[in-house]
Amino acid sequence: MTTVYLNGQYLPAEHAQISVMDRGFLFGDGVYEVIPVFGGRCFRLDEHLDRLDYSLRETAIAQPLTRAQWLEIFEHLIAAYGGGDQAIYIQITRGIAATREFKFPEQTVPTVFAMSRVLAPAPEEAPAPIAVITVDDIRWQRCDIKSTSLLAGVLMTQQALHAGAREAILLRDGVVLEGASSNVFAVTDGVLYTAAKDHRILAGITRDLIVELVQQKGLEFREQALPTAQLSSASEVWISSSTREMVAVTQLDGKAVGSGEIGPVYRQVWQWYREYRKSFSR
Ligand SMILES: Cc1ncc(COP(=O)(O)O)c(C=O)c1O
Repeated sequence: MTTVYLNGQYLPAEHAQISVMDRGFLFGDGVYEVIPVFGGRCFRLDEHLDRLDYSLRETAIAQPLTRAQWLEIFEHLIAAYGGGDQAIYIQITRGIAATREFKFPEQTVPTVFAMSRVLAPAPEEAPAPIAVITVDDIRWQRCDIKSTSLLAGVLMTQQALHAGAREAILLRDGVVLEGASSNVFAVTDGVLYTAAKDHRILAGITRDLIVELVQQKGLEFREQALPTAQLSSASEVWISSSTREMVAVTQLDGKAVGSGEIGPVYRQVWQWYREYRKSFSR
């Protein structure tokens, strides 16, 4: 039976209920985080909780718990799901209001929800590459907030799946921004690119770790969005996220990326990433 946390209680998922007047249900008025767990420990925990604080601040929702309280919940869930590798999901909504009105309700108590999901053991070898499609980014202007209003992402993901691809790469303002649920890296003329952090992308925790690693190792790197026109001639493309880690893209809009095989820059960065993850979960 799946255990979840809801407003101070641990319950079987089928017994956890929220009000139909919850702002998360009515407006998607909430924020979330997905925290990977490797070897029974939360990976990049402070970074995830810092981003949660940011999303809450930007949406004027009060942080309902202390870090120690969050940690207690995570430890409880990790044990309930059997340790190992997992993905913890947490969601905080603005809470329940008496009436459905756009304005913030007065004196609401945020709804706090958390659950976990068992992941396949983190791979030692680079995961299988994927095909992606490019789409116009139909999202709003505050993609820096990890908001539960995800309809645009759902539609673009479905569009990719429908086309036989595994991710949609989002284009806006003539540049490559990120994936529907991932960040994007591309290599062109031997230089690695990923979009700079602004309101148009989510500041991925995995992205930031990759940036940290490539800067430490001295790889030629620019934190700058690649012009759309240069994407089709990139020698390598890959995506990153907490649950998918780093996945090479070998097909873009039905055409081979570079040689059509996993590229050398990806392989090198994957090794650095994997060593970092291994040293963490040892
Ligand atoms: C839009 C978007 N960008 C990037 C990411 C990757 O972020 P992270 O590495 O923190 O999982 C996600 C993750 O879900 C996402 O939804």
